Amino acid sequence: MASPVPTHFELHGEFCGFIRTLLGKKRMVLRVGGEDHFLKVEKELRHRLKATLAPGSEILVSGAEVDDHGRPILKRVVSDVRLMTANGPVACVRYPVRVCTKKTCWRNGGQELWHALEGTLARRGFTATVELEGVHCLDHCKRGPNAEWQGHDYHHCTPRDAERIVDAAAGKLAKVEGR
Ligand code: FES
Repeated sequence: MASPVPTHFELHGEFCGFIRTLLGKKRMVLRVGGEDHFLKVEKELRHRLKATLAPGSEILVSGAEVDDHGRPILKRVVSDVRLMTANGPVACVRYPVRVCTKKTCWRNGGQELWHALEGTLARRGFTATVELEGVHCLDHCKRGPNAEWQGHDYHHCTPRDAERIVDAAAGKLAKVEGR
């Protein structure tokens, strides 16, 4: 039987933290109207949320409901979390542009890419909204210089790629924050 097409979900509630289930799965606990919901959050987003989100925070969570190995209840997978504020929901996780600074990439153009990204961000006024982060390795060493932004990999980068990487990161931020 074909798997059902994932459907969008949105839940508004209180963030209660992350737990490990009896099956060893890590899940976010979201309390909605006194009922606890257990939501899957991919590892990278989970780590970023752990660093930024305090239990008790009021949040708006969205993502997809997907088939869970044929079980009768669909699994909810979170892709976006916003903090509820007096001014409405705001993104609570930043996604930096990550650039490999290990010497294999760095000496073969990674350094030039980094400077081009810095220059592009400054020239286009995005230094406050798009963060640059140097990382030790992005696991694509033979395809360097490498960069990554929110799951999008950029291989064999040259300084000319800075524009499209910044376009992607700045465009996504604008969409998330509704600007
Ligand atoms: S050395 Fe750059 S991705 Fe591994």
